[in-house]
Amino acid sequence: MKVIEAIERRREITRFRPKPIPEETFQALLHALHLAPAGNNALSRESVVVRERGRLDALANTTPYMAWLREAALGVVIVANPTVSKYWLQDATLAGGFLWLAAVEQGLGMAWGAVYHSEDVAESERRENYARGLLAIPAIKRVVAILGIGYPAIEPMPKKLHPKNAVFHFETYDGASKQA
Ligand SMILES: Cc1cc2nc3c(=O)[nH]c(=O)nc-3n(C[C@H](O)[C@H](O)[C@H](O)COP(=O)(O)O)c2cc1C
Repeated sequence: MKVIEAIERRREITRFRPKPIPEETFQALLHALHLAPAGNNALSRESVVVRERGRLDALANTTPYMAWLREAALGVVIVANPTVSKYWLQDATLAGGFLWLAAVEQGLGMAWGAVYHSEDVAESERRENYARGLLAIPAIKRVVAILGIGYPAIEPMPKKLHPKNAVFHFETYDGASKQA
């Protein structure tokens, strides 16, 4: 599959069929995660890969917005280390993006569950501590997101894109064509 095709096909999938992910497919997902870039190539993010049903079901209670984890065959918890790199959040997010496209290529669907909350420190701590407790994640590490993967049970409605003139700004933000 071409990269652009994976980008075009990618949607958030929140319902999954009860079908296990074959080992080869699973390894292809890990490969994509392994290859994702990070600022200065630092080991600023790691993933806790979860396949046990009971553990996935418990993880689904991390926030009220990841009920889909109860149907997912695989959970990937993206964990970041701010002591290693100031780019931890960008690195962790980029890794999740790579995984999302690799999942599409494998005929899988993925949902994104935000855990780290930049604007509500208490809520972020509550969520992250819950996941840390379940997965024995050290306190120094930040829990950025929990991603749920499985074979799609739904096909989302076509996506409504934001208008291009709201998304792109050429040369300057206001489009004024002053010479640099
Ligand atoms: C940073 C980020 C946080 C998100 N958090 C959640 C979440 O907590 N729960 C959820 O079900 N979806 C979450 N999503 C999925 C988005 O709502 C979804 O990607 C968006 O509506 C666009 O739809 P699409 O992925 O089908 O293009 C998140 C996506 C991103 C990129």
